Amino acid sequence: MAKKLMRALAGETLDTPPIWMMRQAGRYLPEYRATREKAGDFLSLCYNPELAGEVTLQPIRRYGFDAAILFADILLVPQALGADLWFVTGEGPRLSTVTTQADFDKLGPAADIHETLSPIYETLRILTRELPKETALIGFAGAPWTVATYMIAGRGTPDQGPAHALKAENRALFEALLARITEATILYLSAQIEAGAEVVKLFDSWAGSLKGADFEAYAVDPARRIIAALKAMHPEVPVIAFPREAGPAYEGFARATGADCVALDNSVDAAWAAAHVQKDGCVQGNLAPGHMVTGGAALDTAVREIVAAFRGGPHIFNLGHGITPDADPANVQRMIDVVRGG
Ligand code: CP3
Repeated sequence: MAKKLMRALAGETLDTPPIWMMRQAGRYLPEYRATREKAGDFLSLCYNPELAGEVTLQPIRRYGFDAAILFADILLVPQALGADLWFVTGEGPRLSTVTTQADFDKLGPAADIHETLSPIYETLRILTRELPKETALIGFAGAPWTVATYMIAGRGTPDQGPAHALKAENRALFEALLARITEATILYLSAQIEAGAEVVKLFDSWAGSLKGADFEAYAVDPARRIIAALKAMHPEVPVIAFPREAGPAYEGFARATGADCVALDNSVDAAWAAAHVQKDGCVQGNLAPGHMVTGGAALDTAVREIVAAFRGGPHIFNLGHGITPDADPANVQRMIDVVRGG
């Protein structure tokens, strides 16, 4: 019998949906905090295959999720292209910026990324040996627009202002950067698949700030290119796309990009998405991560509403965004129990 996650991704409607959680290996888990302490900092953990494998397995051991997601970060690709990257505790990522042609010229070719990223492939090889046979292994990368927003600003920004400014002021440079990231992402995801990833997910966390023609050019088109290239090499590997906060543009996204599944953020009404997005295939989502902090009867109700809304088609239960460090691990167990029929 195929793994539950793979069956949903193949378009099967199941009695209860498979479940996993964005950021399931993270600071809300005491065992994650202990391993991270041992590794030193977050990036050292990402590049340590034994420990990255260990934290990937922790939520599988604790909860028996239907999928494990590689422990890494979307910003490893800019680093592999030659950007400086570091994390400021309590604040988030910092990178050397790309805002001029001279900055861009310092980046390396896409084909050179594997030297930096080879420990990530080793993590996947370890996981293919150590995961329970029913657990699917998900690889991932950031989508080009989202990765570019960090490379251009040098940090996370509330409105992706610096990336929008570069797009307006020097579109040729902006598009060259997106093309370089696109090329690197194809090579990176393909290498992840060769190392054991059975599914890959493309995180476009800031897709919602692209509107109209920009959404088509910089969210849809790069995803379509990446998925087409991966499908040419690995036709059997399903792709989950997450154009977060795309709103009405979620409709048709799977058809336009070739994605096998579209992940929904928690601003999307589940009944609307069942009618307008799930008609094209599998959907993933979309419980508000805040329920993992607050729990209680509201959690049960929200989970049941989502399960009921998507019952008529292929569905993977997940949060609408990553679980936060202040979440209560007991609420995660409760969510799983309710999804699985408790
Ligand atoms: O989901 C998983 O468990 C897999 C691992 C994973 C991480 N980051 C680990 C991580 C994945 C899939 C990501 C994706 C990622 N990284 C995204 C896209 C998804 C999203 O959340 O929108 C983005 C935008 C990033 C960039 C990033 N990494 C930021 C902005 C931050 C700082 C904010 C924060 O939560 O601390 C990170 C750090 C990060 N990535 C942590 C983890 C577990 C926390 C680091 C720590 O242990 O201190």
